[in-house]
Amino acid sequence: MTAPVVAVVGLGYVGLPLALRAAECGMTVVGIDASEAVITGLRAGRSHVDDLTHSDIELLLSRGFTPLLSSEPIPSVDVFLICVPTPLSADGVPDLSFVHAAGRTIASVIQPGALVVLESTSYPGTTEDVLRPILEESGLRAGADFHLAFSPERIDPGRSSHSFAQTPKVVGGLTVACRDAAAGFYSRLVDVVVTTSGLREAEMAKLLENTYRHINIAFVNEMARFCHLLGIDVWDAIAAASTKPFGFQRFDPGPGVGGHCIPIDPNYLSHWVHEQTGEQFRFVHLAQEINAGMPAYLVSRIERMLADRGMPLRGARVLLLGVTYKPDIADDRETPARPLAALLKDAGAAVLVHDPLLPRWSPPGVDVTPVDDIHDALLGCDVAVLLQAHSSFELTAIAHAAPLLLDTRGVVSAESPTVERL
Ligand SMILES: NC(=O)c1ccc[n+]([C@@H]2O[C@H](COP(=O)([O-])OP(=O)(O)OC[C@H]3O[C@@H](n4cnc5c(N)ncnc54)[C@H](O)[C@@H]3O)[C@@H](O)[C@H]2O)c1
Repeated sequence: MTAPVVAVVGLGYVGLPLALRAAECGMTVVGIDASEAVITGLRAGRSHVDDLTHSDIELLLSRGFTPLLSSEPIPSVDVFLICVPTPLSADGVPDLSFVHAAGRTIASVIQPGALVVLESTSYPGTTEDVLRPILEESGLRAGADFHLAFSPERIDPGRSSHSFAQTPKVVGGLTVACRDAAAGFYSRLVDVVVTTSGLREAEMAKLLENTYRHINIAFVNEMARFCHLLGIDVWDAIAAASTKPFGFQRFDPGPGVGGHCIPIDPNYLSHWVHEQTGEQFRFVHLAQEINAGMPAYLVSRIERMLADRGMPLRGARVLLLGVTYKPDIADDRETPARPLAALLKDAGAAVLVHDPLLPRWSPPGVDVTPVDDIHDALLGCDVAVLLQAHSSFELTAIAHAAPLLLDTRGVVSAESPTVERL
């Protein structure tokens, strides 16, 4: 079987690793992106996502990878993989404008026999009801002249335990032939392909996975709040419960949820369910309320810690350690550090920030002071809040140097009277 020519549309956290995997499997890969900065960087051999190094991009280029702006002529392609953003609009509803634009780009060049797969996360019906009509503006018919499928991306930036190839790929097709064409393609990239009965089941599988995480994080966040009130060490309880070899999956409390998936995808689900049925998805709403309330809860804990030492929050210097949404990833999308910083400012505190991954972090609308040297930062604060446990942080040294430390990740020993855990 000859290797197909693959176009990855959208070269971010999802698209770029996918392009690399396709190139590693001997496929010719064209990368299409709407951002000039992304394309210029890639042509110069620079990676803009954490999971890929500059050498990975050099390797991609050496294997014939062609980065193209979506406005440039696109060569003949067998397989289109759409990995564009699916954010929320300003009023909190799904924004599929990037999917529309990617669909129009493909419609202008698609040839009979091609396979088009949407990998971006969205609500059930997006592939068939939103993408399909745009692609059919080409004059070709989905399921007859070209194959159409949905395959959710499961990448977890920063995770080393499951490689791309080791993570099973879910695939649903418009028709059985579409599904089989997509499953055949992905079986060249990953060890296990899981097919669903239709497109909507594959779309729902992704929302189920991420809403499950969102809800369980909310559950354990609420558990942490009650444990604190009742004088129980939640981290100890979680460690003990996690020894059960079946029927329990560990989730850890934290300052809230961030990133492009967990805070966003459940909104796609609840919005769609409400639109279709008129009903509220109560679990989703409750989880959102609890997780979004964590920054305010942290402010109350910081205020209490300072008050116990006779210090008001107003005028105090609060140091935020680690502001990215996950450890060792330079990504601050939807980070709970932003609402926390805003609430602290509103309460009259000065907010210092130290994050070696985002040294110049400046959240929109919030005035924070970045401090490059962690020793200076710890010396210059009244209380430090460990929001993200980057592996470069020397936790014991931080616990010793901070006048007060609130550890929201449960990674610092709480034996010292100056340290509290969430
Ligand atoms: N980041 C993750 O961890 C993750 C994991 C699983 C699924 N997803 C989903 O994958 C999708 C992509 O997410 P991401 O994190 O890779 O986003 P990203 O913002 O990192 O990358 C998206 C890229 O698409 C480009 N783009 C936008 N419009 C385009 C267009 N019309 N044509 C070509 N390129 C265009 C952007 O310039 C950007 O480079 C989203 O639906 C997201 O929910 C993300």
